[in-house]
Amino acid sequence: MSTIEKINYDTFEASLARSKQLEKDIQENPGKYKVLTGDRPTGRLHIGHLFGSLQNRVRLHKLGVPTFIVIADYQVLTDRDTFENIAENVIQLTIDYIAAGIDPSDGRTFIFPHSHVPELNQLLLPFLTLVTNAELDRNPTVKEEITASGQKRINAGMYTYPVHQAADILFCKATVVPVGKDQLPHLELTRTIARRFNTRFASNKPVFPEPQPLLSEAPIILGLDGSQKMSKSRNNAIMLSADEDETALLIKKAKTDSDRRITYDPANRPEVSNLLMLASLTTGRKPEEIAEEIGDAGSGQLKRLLTESLNEYLRPLRTRRKELEQNLDYVRGVLRSGIAAAREEAIKTLEEVREVMNMKI
Ligand code: TRP
Repeated sequence: MSTIEKINYDTFEASLARSKQLEKDIQENPGKYKVLTGDRPTGRLHIGHLFGSLQNRVRLHKLGVPTFIVIADYQVLTDRDTFENIAENVIQLTIDYIAAGIDPSDGRTFIFPHSHVPELNQLLLPFLTLVTNAELDRNPTVKEEITASGQKRINAGMYTYPVHQAADILFCKATVVPVGKDQLPHLELTRTIARRFNTRFASNKPVFPEPQPLLSEAPIILGLDGSQKMSKSRNNAIMLSADEDETALLIKKAKTDSDRRITYDPANRPEVSNLLMLASLTTGRKPEEIAEEIGDAGSGQLKRLLTESLNEYLRPLRTRRKELEQNLDYVRGVLRSGIAAAREEAIKTLEEVREVMNMKI
């Protein structure tokens, strides 16, 4: 491994610039690309996910790009001990995706838990031989997760899951991965693994493309405490599955400040500005314009306006969600077809991998 090139962690700005270029080309040539995205099944999704990543996926998918969505159930065990609810969370996540507008009946969108695709998982073994322990140890996102997990004993899955994530992405030869900033190190590792694999085993005819990250320009939605990112574990989230009264109550309790006059000023008034941003996303109006209109009527008025616009905005999604909860056979069927399609891809790729590694007998 000594002569091999280093993993190159790009600057965020460089990645963003490249993303914009990529975005333009996807719009023009959607058929040229294949998207893979994924989530850990740790619970239901909230409105931060909806405005942050889900809507971006729905948009790409509507452009006509084939899309695989991996539900990373093995990854759940990297930073927690509980696994009681994994299957239930997989189902709820699938319901959230479909309710948000992902349409698996279009024949080019596949949702699957990676635990059900053995050939994908098997790619992990050759991939592990293409990275060093030191490289895995340096991954900034893994380091943060280790700190955040509060666990004293860190299992080896925590250090190696980014290599497994490379298998999630490369098994179907995805070319575009829509991600948030925290996933960029994993994408860079994936690109490195693809490159090293091709150089070492397939120099005549590369097996893997180097997938590109697509950063979304969606705003980061803060929690209702206004101080940090919206997250179920921080108890500051509005779940997609919440009903209208629960939503009203959560907004009523949201933190604001003591200045009665409403202004949009994210740097100095993060709480009020976050509520204005949500009002903007759900009405299609500018946050400054909404602030102006509320003026001295204060945060009570802002909260009433937001409650109404958010509940109205989410109504169709929540109705679909309820219908899907009554129709779990359909949801399980979506996963079964997703698994079948993913396996078909993974079997083909593993065949090629064995072939170039001289393992075919
Ligand atoms: N690590 C991602 C997260 O925590 C989930 C994930 C697993 C993923 N496999 C992926 C994301 C492949 C993008 C592509 O959110």
